[in-house]
Amino acid sequence: MVSSRLASIPESTTMKISAMAKKLKAAGLDVIDMGLGEPDFDTPRNICEAAIKSLRRGNTHYVPANGIPELRTAIAEKLYDENGIEVSPDDVAVTPGAKMAIFVALQALLNEGEECVLIGPSWVSYEPCVNFAGGRVRWAPVNDEFMPSDLAGAITEKTRLILVNSPSNPTGAVFGRRVLEEVRDLAVDHDLFVISDEIYEKIIYEGVHFSIGAFPGMEDRTVTVNGFSKCYAMTGWRLGYVVAPPEIMRWVGRILSHSVSHAVTFVQWAGVEALRGPQDETGSMVAEFRARRDLLISGLRDIGIKCTLPGGAFYVFPDVSEYGGGDEFSSKLLSDVMVAVTPGSAFGPDGSDHVRISYATSQERLKEALDRMAGVLG
Ligand SMILES: Cc1ncc(COP(=O)(O)O)c(C=O)c1O
Repeated sequence: MVSSRLASIPESTTMKISAMAKKLKAAGLDVIDMGLGEPDFDTPRNICEAAIKSLRRGNTHYVPANGIPELRTAIAEKLYDENGIEVSPDDVAVTPGAKMAIFVALQALLNEGEECVLIGPSWVSYEPCVNFAGGRVRWAPVNDEFMPSDLAGAITEKTRLILVNSPSNPTGAVFGRRVLEEVRDLAVDHDLFVISDEIYEKIIYEGVHFSIGAFPGMEDRTVTVNGFSKCYAMTGWRLGYVVAPPEIMRWVGRILSHSVSHAVTFVQWAGVEALRGPQDETGSMVAEFRARRDLLISGLRDIGIKCTLPGGAFYVFPDVSEYGGGDEFSSKLLSDVMVAVTPGSAFGPDGSDHVRISYATSQERLKEALDRMAGVLG
C-alpha cells in the first residue's frame, strides 16, 4: 500500500503514549500524564497580543519562503548577542517548528546511505527524519552521565554528520565546552557537518549553554536549529528556524518553497515579539521547572530509583533496569496507577533500561505521581 521508503518509519512513541493517556482520561480516569514534551505554561500574553495585532493589520498573505525579514533580522541579532554566532539574516530560514528545520537540514545534507551519528538516547524524530532523507543512524555510546564515551568509534567512511542536542531530550544532559570541542575536532578531522539542535537552550539549571556554531573552525560546517516551542511555551504555534552556510541555505529555501511554503505569517510576527519583548516569563518558567526537577529527583531517589541529575530541559531519565526495564516499567505504571511515562526504548537502543519522565506538570501532580509510584514499587 505505501512506498517501501516509508514502511519502516515507526509511529512516534511519545505521541502514542499521549494518545493512550488521553483516551483513559476521556474515559473519566485520573491519569497523570508525564509523557509529553510540552511546557504546561500559557504562551506569554505579549506574544499572543502581537499575533492578534498582526492579524488585525492584515498579515494573512504569503511571505518569502525563508520568512519575513523582520523575524530573520531578530533571529540573526539574537544569535550574535546570545550565542556568539555571526550570520546575516539571509543565512536564516524560518520554519513551521524546529522539527521542520531538522527535516529540511537532513534532506539538504544527506545522500542515500550516508550516516548521521546520534549521541546516546536521542529525541524520537531524529532517526525517522534521517531515514526519510535516505540516511542511516549510527549510535554513539554514552556514559552514566549521558556524555559521549566513544564518539570517534562511531565515525565511519559513510559518516556525513553528527547531530548534537544540548540540553538533551530525553536525558536533560548539558554538553560542556570540552564535549563540544571533541565534536568539533572530529567534524574538522573527518570533514563532517554538525547539526546542533538548541531548542532547550534557555531551560538550563547547571552549567551554561554553548553553541558549537560559534566555535572556531565550525562556521562552514554547522547547521544550528532552534525554535519557540519550549522556551516561549509556543508548541502549537509551529515556529522554528535553521541557520547554515549559504550553500546549504539555498537548498533549504528550495525545499521549503516546494513543500510548506513558509511558517504562518502572523505567527512570525509573534516570533519577533518573543525575541524582542520582555524575557521575564521564560525566567519564571525555568525557576518553576527547577523546583519541579529537584522535587522529582529527590522523590524518585527516596523510592530507590537511580537517576542522574539533569542539567537542563524538563525531563528526567532514570534507570529502571531493576524494575524490568523501561517498557515493562512504563506499562505497569500506566495500567496499575495511571501514570503515563515514556519508555526509554523510544529514544534508541541505549535507552531501553530507562524511562523518560516529563515534569511539565504541577508540583502537586508530581507529588501525587510519586506517591502512586511508591505504592506500586514498594
Ligand atoms: C530535541 C527536540 N528538538 C526539536 C523538537 C521540535 O520542536 P518544534 O515544536 O519546534 O517542532 C522537539 C520537540 O519535542 C525536541 O524535543
